[in-house]
Amino acid sequence: MRIDIITAVPDLLDSLLGHSIVKRAVEKKLFELQIHSLRDEGLGKYRQIDDYPYGGAAGMVLMAEPLDRMLTKLSEQRTYDAIVYLTPDGELWTQNAANQFSLKGNVIMICGHYKGIDQRIRDLWVTHEISIGDYVLNGGEVAAVAMIEAIARLIPGVIGNNESLAEESHNEGLLEAPSYTKPQSWRGLEVPEMLLSGHHAEIEKWRKAQSLERTKQNRPDLLDK
Ligand code: 6GU
Repeated sequence: MRIDIITAVPDLLDSLLGHSIVKRAVEKKLFELQIHSLRDEGLGKYRQIDDYPYGGAAGMVLMAEPLDRMLTKLSEQRTYDAIVYLTPDGELWTQNAANQFSLKGNVIMICGHYKGIDQRIRDLWVTHEISIGDYVLNGGEVAAVAMIEAIARLIPGVIGNNESLAEESHNEGLLEAPSYTKPQSWRGLEVPEMLLSGHHAEIEKWRKAQSLERTKQNRPDLLDK
């Protein structure tokens, strides 16, 4: 899989990705990642990439032309399965979406900044508009890193064992059961007896019940689906 990210702040992405499992996956060649500075396609002597919004509003809008040039250049080099625009007004990013994206070949991610991008780029190029949650970030970069990490860890070989992937939070629509490690007794707090019993079938039943309880407490909305 290959992901090309278009951003007005490439240094920010470099540093965000510099210490993640994503970096190791790239080094192991399990995954390809290219960061592109929108400024490279900026207009005129000052390499302008944004301007004031028509109709008046706070903030700046990334102009159509530099984005179009960058998208054209990339599309001439290979075929893309998805062109994503990261935006708080997009569709919600979920484990399901991450699972689907992990099967794709080439993906472009466009990070908005300031007030967003010219709508015409969304109309002409963008195939997926994605938000990582109901809150507003200053730019799409942190959201892109969250998306990429969710995708990368599903690619075989990126993290240790594949079994833990299936068992994790947000699979089967329930949250994960509690975990304990040594010591068995800590500050008078005991590891639940069941986990010490060695009865694997019983332990599985216990975990399922705990998952359900935690989901009722923290995410009752997941049970309505
Ligand atoms: Cl993808 N971008 C921005 N700027 N804010 C967000 C977001 C994305 N997802 C949630 N908030």
